[in-house]
Amino acid sequence: MNPTVIVTGASNGIGKAIAKVFASNYFNVVLADVDEENGFLLQDELLSEGRQAQFIRCDVSDPKSIQNLVKETLKRYSTIDVLINNAGISEFIRPDELSVEKWDQILNTNLRASFLLTREVVPHMKKTKKGSVVNIASTRAIMSEKNSEAYAASKGGLQALTHAQAVSHSKENITVNCISPGWIHTGDYNQLRDIDHEQHPSKRVGKPEDVARACLFLTDPENDFINGENLVMDGGMTRKMIYEH
Ligand SMILES: NC(=O)c1ccc[n+]([C@@H]2O[C@H](COP(=O)([O-])OP(=O)(O)OC[C@H]3O[C@@H](n4cnc5c(N)ncnc54)[C@H](O)[C@@H]3O)[C@@H](O)[C@H]2O)c1
Repeated sequence: MNPTVIVTGASNGIGKAIAKVFASNYFNVVLADVDEENGFLLQDELLSEGRQAQFIRCDVSDPKSIQNLVKETLKRYSTIDVLINNAGISEFIRPDELSVEKWDQILNTNLRASFLLTREVVPHMKKTKKGSVVNIASTRAIMSEKNSEAYAASKGGLQALTHAQAVSHSKENITVNCISPGWIHTGDYNQLRDIDHEQHPSKRVGKPEDVARACLFLTDPENDFINGENLVMDGGMTRKMIYEH
């Protein structure tokens, strides 16, 4: 029986690449997103390639929608083996203009959702006595441009949530790790300038597939000695001194 993965934010960008890599590794892939149009397009694309995929509409900022996602997943496929908490929104707003509603929306989408969905999925992973969760954080958890308070706080929270969950869910044999990407270009890679690539110690901007392959690696049962970890994937940018000479 093929394992099942839920990928949130799977209709576009990094989530789409994650869904594709799991699908080509013989997972049943649940595509969870608010974007129905692109979600169904991806579902159809994967099915036409002979892969297993099901789009399920889910607004991860809504606890009821999260419960429904898990219920519908189990109706379609019998197990949940891997969860990738990838859905996120990034909005940069001056602190004096950041409303309580907007703060809550960003934190509920980027941070609370990962807690709620993992909590909902764990009892089902427990049945198969194994499981793996990856939270997609950001290097903005540890460094900032201005006006990123809510986003930075949500991603810092995700890094902390990850090690707490890893320790809590050890009794269920579930590993929880996070990935902190730097600049991952989800648009047309050919439009990037030389300076965009050259500033990275790796001499290139990241691609969604970089994150996708890391998700596959971290959730491989053979790699379960990696647990509670934060994998930074930024081409070396957070290791680079930036003094100007
Ligand atoms: N692209 C980058 O450079 C980068 C860097 C660091 C971290 N990240 C993180 O990676 C993740 C994916 O980013 P991306 O660049 O692919 O973004 P994206 O905007 O291309 O895709 C995000 C997806 O999440 C979905 N989504 C948004 N709100 C949702 C909700 N409430 N419920 C369900 N789905 C929702 C969107 O519809 C979209 O399909 C995010 O968590 C982001 O913070 C991205």
